[in-house]
Amino acid sequence: MIRVLFVCLGNICRSPMAEYILKEMVARRGLTPQFYINSAATSSEEWGNPIYPPARRKLQEEGVPVGDHRAVQMMAGDYARYDLLIGMDANNLRAMRRIAGGDPEGKLRRLLDFTDRPGDVADPWYTGDFDAAYADIARGCEALLTYLTDTK
Ligand code: 4NP
Repeated sequence: MIRVLFVCLGNICRSPMAEYILKEMVARRGLTPQFYINSAATSSEEWGNPIYPPARRKLQEEGVPVGDHRAVQMMAGDYARYDLLIGMDANNLRAMRRIAGGDPEGKLRRLLDFTDRPGDVADPWYTGDFDAAYADIARGCEALLTYLTDTK
């Protein structure tokens, strides 16, 4: 079982998008029983809220099923609970390190660092560009899945 937690600032746009995109990629390969995939926020700002409607619409447009998401905040104990905790941008990584109290096992990563074009996934909450966020997250998840199926 490979356990992956995606993390962003609010847990209503980028990290639930990544959660549902990776779940669908895994399902299409018949690998669902081998994965546990979830998402969380670094802030408590959106606690309990559903995925932001434009993010849901974009996923549905792309044929990615969306579950009954409610935003939660990452907790210190998540560090032990997951094999990889994957943030969307450099700010997320700083906050994740603070919540986890360090990264002794090298589990904290940035999504696009799995690709050949590392960088941040721009926050569509601020940019309004859900197409760009989707494209970045989808290529990040493809690269992540290749990494996981090659190395684990
Ligand atoms: P996300 O976007 O981190 O991709 O979920 C955000 C959503 C809400 C807020 C910030 C970022 N907010 O501050 O409310």
